[in-house]
Amino acid sequence: MNIDWSKLSFHYTETDYIVRSACKDGVWEEPYATKDMTIQLHVASTGLQYGQQAFEGLKAFRGVDGKARIFRMRENARRMAKSAEGLMMTPPPEDIFCRAIVLALKKNIDYLPPYETGATLYFRPILIATTHEISVAPGKDCELIIVATPIGAYFPGKFHCTPFIVERHIDRAAPFGTGTWKVGGNYGASFRATEAAHAQGYDCMFTDAKTHKYIDECSAANFIGIRRITDRSADRVQTASLTDRYTIEYLTPRSSAILPSITNDSLITLAKEMGMKVTRRHIRVEELAQMDEAAACGTACVISPIGKVYDPDKNITYHFGDEPGPVLTKLYHALKDIQYGRAEDKHHWCDIIDNS
Ligand code: PLP
Ligand code: COI
Repeated sequence: MNIDWSKLSFHYTETDYIVRSACKDGVWEEPYATKDMTIQLHVASTGLQYGQQAFEGLKAFRGVDGKARIFRMRENARRMAKSAEGLMMTPPPEDIFCRAIVLALKKNIDYLPPYETGATLYFRPILIATTHEISVAPGKDCELIIVATPIGAYFPGKFHCTPFIVERHIDRAAPFGTGTWKVGGNYGASFRATEAAHAQGYDCMFTDAKTHKYIDECSAANFIGIRRITDRSADRVQTASLTDRYTIEYLTPRSSAILPSITNDSLITLAKEMGMKVTRRHIRVEELAQMDEAAACGTACVISPIGKVYDPDKNITYHFGDEPGPVLTKLYHALKDIQYGRAEDKHHWCDIIDNS
């Protein structure tokens, strides 16, 4: 095996093993590793016909101390269980999910990129319903499959900004539909909008499907806005990187159609520790004008700062500058420092895997 880690991006590179565990009549088998990268799926499987499927995304890091760390895998296990319940599949138990991830890491340990590269080993757990049925009804038998693939540093050069375009004509998920679950159908539904945005040189900012007034998600990532509140009556907080005294507000959308991002949850914890005010509420697109910094956040990028947002329906562009702002930069490094073992892991977010 000879991988040029610096050439990796967010694309699939085959590794040696996948890990599988099937659930039949409510009983899960012990996860096992196999070199066969294909699965046999019966043509009548409800996963194939009706999209009864869910997936996850999480990473392992080679730390500064040479140890392998998996970030918040129990949270991914819980989210997959919720997605499974949402689509009426049998949720994989947390211990089966976590044992499967650890096995996928151990069997593919040669693909865990060295510390200095900034590359990581990404796990893509997939859950698919395997019950044979032709009527429109959910199947309970399913299979959990863990795919592992090394991916490159999201920002191989400089931490930089990306432009977004507001989308009001294609919806990713309905207000009380499947948006809070990580199911394939949401992503298929988003392709037309994300590809149209890319063709114009942007990433896609989805608005809520009911009114199209509020920010929902940034492509496949949550939205974060940073606002400095200078109101003299507000509580004053000083952050280490800023010289003046402000309250810094971390704003993120409340919506019944967005995925609960584990990265966003981690950043919220760090933001509170840094003394920021965290607000989760409906955010109107026009409120971008009052924000000092904005970003997308998710496992792949941690934080991807937004340089500008173009609203084609109103012909307005909201500018955030060409360089990532100080608050988002501080949050970005704080989380990465924990993932790479450079900072204390106070919240026990990382599982250190021995002998790997
Ligand atoms: N929103 C969507 C639609 C996603 O697909 C993802 C990625 O998993 C996120 C948000 C970010 O979630 P997380 O931070 O758990 O990766
Ligand atoms: C992320 O991990 O941040 C994502 O955007 C998930 C996507 C690749 C499905």
